[in-house]
Amino acid sequence: MVQRETWATRTGFILAAVGSAVGLGNVWRFPYQVGEFGGAAFLVVYLLLIAVIGFPIMLVEFTVGRYTDRNPVGALKQIGRGPWKRIGWVFVVAGFVILSYYSVIAGWVLQYMAYGLQGNYAADGAAQFGSTVGGVTPVLTHAIFMAAVIAVVALGIRQGIELSVKLMVPAIIVLSVGLAVYAATLPGAGEAYAYYLSPDLGTITADWTEILPAAAGQAFFTLSLGMGVMITYASYLGEDRNLAKDGVIIVGLDTMIAFFMGLIAFPILLSGDVGAADIGTIGDGPGFIFIALSQAFANVPLGGLLGAVFFATVTVAALSSAISIMEVVVSYLIDEHGVDRVPATVGLGIAIFLVGVPVAYDASLSWLTVYDELANNILLILGALLLSIYIGWIKTDLGLEELSKGIRNLGAWGTYWIWALRIPVVVMLIVILGLNAVGAYEALSGIVG
Ligand code: PHE
Repeated sequence: MVQRETWATRTGFILAAVGSAVGLGNVWRFPYQVGEFGGAAFLVVYLLLIAVIGFPIMLVEFTVGRYTDRNPVGALKQIGRGPWKRIGWVFVVAGFVILSYYSVIAGWVLQYMAYGLQGNYAADGAAQFGSTVGGVTPVLTHAIFMAAVIAVVALGIRQGIELSVKLMVPAIIVLSVGLAVYAATLPGAGEAYAYYLSPDLGTITADWTEILPAAAGQAFFTLSLGMGVMITYASYLGEDRNLAKDGVIIVGLDTMIAFFMGLIAFPILLSGDVGAADIGTIGDGPGFIFIALSQAFANVPLGGLLGAVFFATVTVAALSSAISIMEVVVSYLIDEHGVDRVPATVGLGIAIFLVGVPVAYDASLSWLTVYDELANNILLILGALLLSIYIGWIKTDLGLEELSKGIRNLGAWGTYWIWALRIPVVVMLIVILGLNAVGAYEALSGIVG
């Protein structure tokens, strides 16, 4: 049996996890959700959920991965009893489906980077977006993006993932700070900060059934939880590492970059032809950065260049996330079926590409909604819920023992962690899963009917 791969350095692991966390979730999803769900009100709920739910679940995935040295399916096979042995599948299936459409969206991003380089953002953003999605071009850009993902992951943990994130993550940080500084000089900056940074507490209580699941879904997605990425990445770690400390750094950096994206997007938006009152109504969902923001690029000074830099940043962020999802499914084939890394990566990469083709080709975006509702709103939450119940209520000792390795004095923190899992996390996830199931049912019956 070949020796299992490991990270070369601690920084390598942290950067890989940050690279996974920072992605389309921060750049594409986060600002539009803030826009849709009431600006700063959403921000407050989101930050709370990151701390109370996101962080404890990240530690669960870390401990399970490091304890077993396995991919999610193998990990649960090893520590699970009875039906719990099978729950690893939820993660691998979710990853497979999510990557198939994540790559399609990353392909649109490539297209929009090209528009910027050609100085080609249209004053009518909606029309341009409509002519960008659907048809053959998005299938091609989806293929290009998947080819890049395959290339990195095929090179392995150290030569592929670790090396590439050491370049990509610092680049993302530098570019986003630069963009935020530039955005601060734009005429709409003042109004944008007021909108983004002053919580309207009224909205939180008014629409909690909408804000809560949306903010929770966002917290999950952005931290790469519920898909086994953190299980898989931690499985390449040694035992001497303080998982809690690494987790704080990862969560902190991810949150910081999401926050920065708001500082970039809203000033640009409000310096274009959009008013604060319209933010929630334009380009809802997939269209936000593609419609509203690119339309603003058409109207601000140096917009083409600015847009090209912005979408280049997004591309890098998307790539460093996509490789982490790919690694989950690839590690499954390597660990469980003894397939070599290169054929495993190429084979799965092609399969994932094919599953994404309908999403790329379909101009109505219905396929996107179907995949997103099922994988993101159901599978992701379900996987995390099952794992939290298992570690919080059943295999508590395993979790505590693994977490305490590399931490000199865990003290009462271990107990806090277990109780956070047992009640707030589990209850919250059940509520959210219920609300999402209703939402998915409505969305899907809308498409079918
Ligand atoms: N966290 C990534 C983002 O914000 C998406 C992602 C989710 C990546 C789950 C891996 C696993 O874009």
